[in-house]
Order: sequence, then structure tokens, then C-alpha cells
Amino acid sequence: MAIEIKNINKSFHGRGLDHDIKVLDDVNLNIGDGEFVCLLGPSGCGKTTLLRLIAGLDQPTSGEVIADGEVVKKPSGDRAVIFQQYSLFPWLTVLENVMFGLNLKKDRTKEENLKAAERYLESVGLIDFKDSYPHELSGGMKQRVAIIRSLLNHSPILLMDEPFSALDMQNRHMLQEQLIGVWKRFKNTIVFVTHDVDEAIYLADKIVIMDKNPGKIKEVFDVDMPRLRKRESEEFIKIQEEVLDKLNVEDF
Ligand SMILES: Nc1ncnc2c1ncn2[C@@H]1O[C@H](COP(=O)(O)OP(=O)(O)OP(=O)(O)O)[C@@H](O)[C@H]1O
Ligand SMILES: [Mg+2]
Repeated sequence: MAIEIKNINKSFHGRGLDHDIKVLDDVNLNIGDGEFVCLLGPSGCGKTTLLRLIAGLDQPTSGEVIADGEVVKKPSGDRAVIFQQYSLFPWLTVLENVMFGLNLKKDRTKEENLKAAERYLESVGLIDFKDSYPHELSGGMKQRVAIIRSLLNHSPILLMDEPFSALDMQNRHMLQEQLIGVWKRFKNTIVFVTHDVDEAIYLADKIVIMDKNPGKIKEVFDVDMPRLRKRESEEFIKIQEEVLDKLNVEDF
């Protein structure tokens, strides 16, 4: 499903101030069906705000977000949102958590869902914990469970707000690879917020660099490299230099 972001402005009432604060200033962006877009920018440039507007969790002050041809007015099951803070159901096991809601979908059998869930758990080293409960896991393990659950849901639009930022490098790389696998197979449209230049280049078709005060789009980079990408390749390093050049590194 395609997403069009048209002339979005967003202001919030400034606490203790007699005026509003403009957080997003005339943001325009077209995201094609099945495109993988990363939003990259300094803290406070409005990345989460923009993601919430796309999700329909909040409304713009002016302008509109159009998803699959319709103006976004409220959240929808077609647009899954994955935030940095995860919530698992404490009364369900790891396996039950990752399979939550899956069996409502008609396109796959229960057996297929179970196989997929176990395959994902295996790949992030959690298969031996499938019958454990969330309170028996570390924070990073809980995050991996929550991410796997969201990946298994295959929503046509995935909106991800720094989902891997708290993980160690090995698990972050593993989940990046998993995400690319899911995306290749299910052709989801993905908007992924990150602070991490390396992560953006590894994942994205398009990197949208944002600037702050007020938040706006500074530059859009197309990353035209086959996947899976090699971080040590010459091309990767070249794009890294170009992107870093555009960022105000002191803001990060
Ligand atoms: N509900 C709100 N009320 C008032 N101000 C808000 C609200 N939500 C966000 N803001 C302000 O909007 C600006 C952008 O916030 P936002 O969370 O979108 O930034 P961000 O780019 O996601 O930052 P980070 O990288 O730190 O997560 C900030 O100055 C923040 O204080
Ligand atoms: Mg944020």
C-alpha cells in the first residue's frame, strides 16, 4: 500500500508558553507500495510525530496523510506500529505471545503459523525459551519476542520507531536481516525510524534525512544496492560518507 504525505504541518501547544510550537513544517513525501523508507534525523526533529500521523494516532494541524488512496483519520489494522517500548502478555508463554492473533488470519494454516513462529524464534536464539513466560526473560529477549510477533503479522504497512535501538549489535544485525527477509517475501511498505546511519543504509530503498526546529525534510537519498547488503563493501561505505556529510553530526 502506498502512502502520500501531503503538506503536513504539525504544531503542539507549548507548555507554559502563550504560543504553539511548530514541530513539522510542510513535510511532503511519497512512499510507493512495497517501498522501504528510513527516516533519519536528530533527536526532536519530529520522526515519532510523523510516524504517529501516518499511523493515525494523531492528526496534523494541516495537510493530510493518504494511505492506500484514503485520508488517514484513525489507526487501522493495515498499519502496524512498532514502538521502542514493547508489551508482551505476561500470562502467555513466548510461543503464545509471538503467535497471538496469527490464527485469525485466513491465509495460513495453524500449522504454517507454528512453523514460522518456531523458525523465527530459532533464528534469534530463543527457541529454548518458547515455553517460558516474559518475567523469566531479560529485557533484550523480551524485545526480540515482541519484534518477532510484529514481523509475523505481515501488515501491508509496518511503521517502526527505532525498534532495534536497545539491542546489542549481534541481535540488531540478526533482526535487520530477518526484517529484510519478511519484507522481500511479503512486500510490505515499511517506514522505519532510526538514529543509526549504518542501519538506514543496510535497510532502506530511500533514506529521508530530517532537520529540526522545525522538523522538515532536508534531503532524500535513494539507496540502489542489491540485498542482502554488505557493510564492508565499497558502495556501502561511499553512501555512508555521503549521508554523514548531510547530517549535522553534532545534533546526534
Ligand atoms: N504531545 C506532544 N505535546 C507537545 N510537544 C510534543 C508532543 N509530542 C512531541 N512534541 C515535541 O515535538 C518535537 C518532536 O518530537 P518527536 O518525538 O517527534 O521527535 P523525534 O524525532 O522522534 O526525537 P527522538 O529521536 O528523540 O525520538 C519535540 O520537540 C517534542 O518535544
Ligand atoms: Mg522518536
